[in-house]
Amino acid sequence: MTLREFIEFARQAGYLVTIDKPVNPYLEMASVIAALDGRPVLFNRVVGSDFRVLSGQCSDRRYFAAALGCQVNELLFRLADAYRSPQTPPVVPREQAPCAEVTMQPVDLCRIPFLTHYQGDAGPYATAAIAIVNDPDTGPNVSFHRLLRLDSTRVAARIVERRGTDTALRKTPDDLPVAICIGLPLHVLLAASMSPAPEVDELAIAHALAPTPVTRCLTNDLYVPAEAEFVLEGRITHRTVAEGPFVDLTETWDIVRQQPVIEIDCVTHRRDAIYHALLPGMLEHKLLMGMPKEPSIYAAVNEVCRCLNVNITPGGTSWLHAVVQIEKRGPDDGRKAAEAAFRGHGSLKHVVVVDADVDIYDPNDVEWAVATRFQADKDLMVWTDQPSSSLDPSATHVPGQKSRSAKMGLDATIPWDRPRSDFQRVPLPKADLSRYL
Ligand SMILES: Cc1cc2nc3c(=O)[nH]c(=O)nc-3n(C[C@H](O)[C@H](O)[C@H](O)COP(=O)(O)O)c2cc1C
Repeated sequence: MTLREFIEFARQAGYLVTIDKPVNPYLEMASVIAALDGRPVLFNRVVGSDFRVLSGQCSDRRYFAAALGCQVNELLFRLADAYRSPQTPPVVPREQAPCAEVTMQPVDLCRIPFLTHYQGDAGPYATAAIAIVNDPDTGPNVSFHRLLRLDSTRVAARIVERRGTDTALRKTPDDLPVAICIGLPLHVLLAASMSPAPEVDELAIAHALAPTPVTRCLTNDLYVPAEAEFVLEGRITHRTVAEGPFVDLTETWDIVRQQPVIEIDCVTHRRDAIYHALLPGMLEHKLLMGMPKEPSIYAAVNEVCRCLNVNITPGGTSWLHAVVQIEKRGPDDGRKAAEAAFRGHGSLKHVVVVDADVDIYDPNDVEWAVATRFQADKDLMVWTDQPSSSLDPSATHVPGQKSRSAKMGLDATIPWDRPRSDFQRVPLPKADLSRYL
């Protein structure tokens, strides 16, 4: 499902909100998107730009399920399958690639409606952009990078240390060719947010999820999704500028850092291209950050015990907290599952392990398990001074170094040496209210 097919699906399903009044990408549009968080919103008239703006296409698990043609509770297993068996995407000639329909002459990034989201942000940011680079040793890598627009041909990118893009840049003495894509199908955005092994191309995971034809760039030998709305071709330089302040996933200010400058040499786009704006810290950001990490936790936990499901919870900013559901088959399965969860997602901070009878999507049910099945002197695990997320304001941040934090696991499964019946909810027979009301 391309971005445009998603708009049609959302229109027919009654989810889409269409706004025809002129809206300004400077602060105003972000406040409208926030007020409609969870709904896809199409802005048909954007102040200062010819391009329309779509936001919210990734703000509900139902939209992903529709895009992948499955049920919401099957999403993790579809992602896990694609993660396990990537498929090389087919190459189409540029003549057949919608992303190549128009070449912007001259390059002018100020024509593209980067939003300024929060008062105090460093400037206009692209927040739903994926960057494709070639690592000299392991090949293509795809990941998200927030982009601060500096002027008509340059952006500054937040590139987290020691991940794919940073690793490729450190190996490249000159500028590193890059292709930045904006306005993508949901399945491509999901795959771009995954962290597979370095030699795995995220676009091959995307193609395992749904058809993802690619085409070659005009000015470098990178391959991009042919259905992208915009493609910005350029070079990541080793020059840096101050990037930030910026409100990120945790809805708190991220620190200002020196970050690489990207010079854009060529912009192509679809006729009547639609720009995808993602509001930092809101549902779209949270789901895109958290959901793709659930399969890697699921895979890691299944190496040590029987994992049934994983939820990276919105309350934990969809990045720092997870609930892991297991079928307990041994006294230490809860402890082993917690340890494995941190291997499956390096930025995880706190994890709760529960049994099959606990609804991992219901925070009250998870708390009930902690209240009735957990003893802190037996079932609490704490690890100090661990590598952690740069997004957690409470962690220790030293510029250029990996952030550090304590981590905690709660084994809220039924104790192995106690009768299960002591811990199970006693069901009440369901009343047929129609007999009484
Ligand atoms: C909406 C969104 C925004 C993100 N922003 C950034 C960012 O600005 N910088 C960054 O380095 N990673 C960012 N990420 C995380 C990376 O894209 C993600 O961790 C990716 O899996 C890294 O892939 P890699 O390990 O293959 O390089 C973002 C992810 C999402 C979903």
